[in-house]
Amino acid sequence: MFVTFEGPDGSGKTTQIRLLAEWLRERGREVVLTREPGGTEIGDQIRAVLHDPYNTAMDARAEILLYSASRAQHVAQLIRPALAAGKIVISDRYADSTLAYQGYGRGLDLEMLRTITRFATRGLTPGLTLYLDITPEEGLQRRRLGGDEWNRLDAEALEFHQRVRAGYLELVEQEPERWAVVNAARPVEEVQVEIRAMVQARLGKETRVTKPVIARNKVTKQSPPLLMC
Ligand code: TYD
Repeated sequence: MFVTFEGPDGSGKTTQIRLLAEWLRERGREVVLTREPGGTEIGDQIRAVLHDPYNTAMDARAEILLYSASRAQHVAQLIRPALAAGKIVISDRYADSTLAYQGYGRGLDLEMLRTITRFATRGLTPGLTLYLDITPEEGLQRRRLGGDEWNRLDAEALEFHQRVRAGYLELVEQEPERWAVVNAARPVEEVQVEIRAMVQARLGKETRVTKPVIARNKVTKQSPPLLMC
């Protein structure tokens, strides 16, 4: 199963992912934890360019192509082989970040971004995406207090982050069956309990309905078949 976590900066994804992975492993599941941009050696080199606070001259199109290049490598080298081996892959961000940040945040054409993303991922779509929701004000405040790595996008204006959040909420509305929304402005333990219940429900369904795990093709008018994992 392919699970992704999305959310505004400072929503606590990293901590929640770590706790979820520990819990799944205790239950005998093989889990691969990864993140975007990055996840592979090549991806990490691209990540360094993307996050360099001195790269203020980066063109929005160059930015999307770099995220997509990192993603293509990630899918080909790490995610697909792990899924094929029956592992649970949990990624801290994936293609929805591109739609939220470059699409809703920067104003790039969403259909064009979807096309680039399909090319980069060959249509690999998560089976479950957990959206950790928090206001940009609270999220950025948490990052400052937590002393996390401060990246080029954190430095964007508050309105940018507000557009990103509104974008995420729109994405959730468009595909409610894939997304699960969690209110992240609560204590870590409370959020984790909810996340575990959502993952458990999905794993249960997978075992009942689709075992052995099979790709489920979803066809829409404009898009080629997507591989749901
Ligand atoms: P990171 O330091 O991993 O932060 P976080 O803990 O919030 O995930 O930085 C990832 C940053 O990259 C984050 O600001 C979102 C941004 N991003 C995009 O703009 N587009 C993308 O496609 C991806 C994967 C990330």
